[in-house]
Amino acid sequence: MTSKDMDINALARETRLVVATRRFSEHGIVNPPVYHASTVLHPTMDSFLSRHSSFAYGPWGTPTSSALAAAVATLEGGHNATICSSGLSAITTTLLSFLKSGDHLLMTDSVYLPTRRFCDDLLKSFGVETTYYDPLIGAGIAGLMRPETAMVYMESPGSLTFEVQDVPAIAAAAHAGGAMAVIDNTWSAGLFFDAFAHGCDISLQAATKYLVGHSDALIGTITATEAAWPRLDKYYKQLGQCTGPDDMYLTLRGMRTLDVRLVRHMQNALEVAGWLKGRPEVHQVLYPALPDAPGHDLWKRDFTGASGLFTILLVPCPREAIAAMLDGLKLFGMGASWGGYESLVVPFEPFSHRNIRTLSADGWGLRLHIGLENPADLIADLESGFQRLNAAR
Ligand SMILES: Cc1ncc(COP(=O)(O)O)c(C=O)c1O
Repeated sequence: MTSKDMDINALARETRLVVATRRFSEHGIVNPPVYHASTVLHPTMDSFLSRHSSFAYGPWGTPTSSALAAAVATLEGGHNATICSSGLSAITTTLLSFLKSGDHLLMTDSVYLPTRRFCDDLLKSFGVETTYYDPLIGAGIAGLMRPETAMVYMESPGSLTFEVQDVPAIAAAAHAGGAMAVIDNTWSAGLFFDAFAHGCDISLQAATKYLVGHSDALIGTITATEAAWPRLDKYYKQLGQCTGPDDMYLTLRGMRTLDVRLVRHMQNALEVAGWLKGRPEVHQVLYPALPDAPGHDLWKRDFTGASGLFTILLVPCPREAIAAMLDGLKLFGMGASWGGYESLVVPFEPFSHRNIRTLSADGWGLRLHIGLENPADLIADLESGFQRLNAAR
């Protein structure tokens, strides 16, 4: 409930983004205050020893972190949320909180590469075995479940190759086998995909991307169901996860305009992706919102929109020709962390770190983040890039 006694969860997501955290405001000021705090003073010995007050110790939370957590939980439609220092720390905190030695983890083969490295290295050293599954497996995941499978982890669409997963089918099979269902929901920003309505127990995000939206803060969020919350809350605190108050405030501020920004990202991306589809240099466009793109039917069934991130697979050409294209781009910056207002490009070799090939891809891939610029300017930038690529072949 907010100060006006509204049931915020009965409101549309766009409205929730605007009114979230109103109850944290002070003196009638619209935005919640930013508390810089490590020490919390207690008036009495009893108060100190019981630590019953809401904010008893800096690392356990402040009104700033509570305001952001409440806003994230209401955006995602979960019970409660925690705030981590980066998207990757939200991922590792989730894995460490819910897995123990002897457990088996089913991990999508299309996962964000640093998640894979964590599973193959530190998590393995703790005695957790990871099996990578075909992201397109759907209900067939039931065949990979073992008695010791404790978690099925999804990321949809997948990193770089954008496979759309059948989340309800996978989550149902996970639950039937006694495992929990976790999703990296960064691409949809929690706005275009309702992870909890599709059966997930945990929805995590690199809030660094669209929630912050301005490429100026690193932050992660983990939202949980009521059943998953107590364990997450306990281990999150034991792991010492904390985030700076200014970064939390920037995230909350970014969330107010998430809806309008994402709709524009989608409109621009559809225009640029549609143009790219007709280019002879492009073998395939991997943008699920584009009719005929891989995963379009599942995307249409489960998502209410698409963000601005997609991949094009190039017709095979020499690396030097791609460098000639990318090095001369004026509007597209070459950089990895997406979700800000600006357009980006990242070259990669598809399936270089994968066990399972889900597409035929003989050439390089370019992952594009389509920003808020006018799409005609972006197309002109790419068009002159293709001219340089063709001249350097
Ligand atoms: C899908 C996905 N999840 C998580 C992360 C990690 O986010 P961060 O950079 O905040 O650690 C990224 C970063 O690119 C990502 O693309």
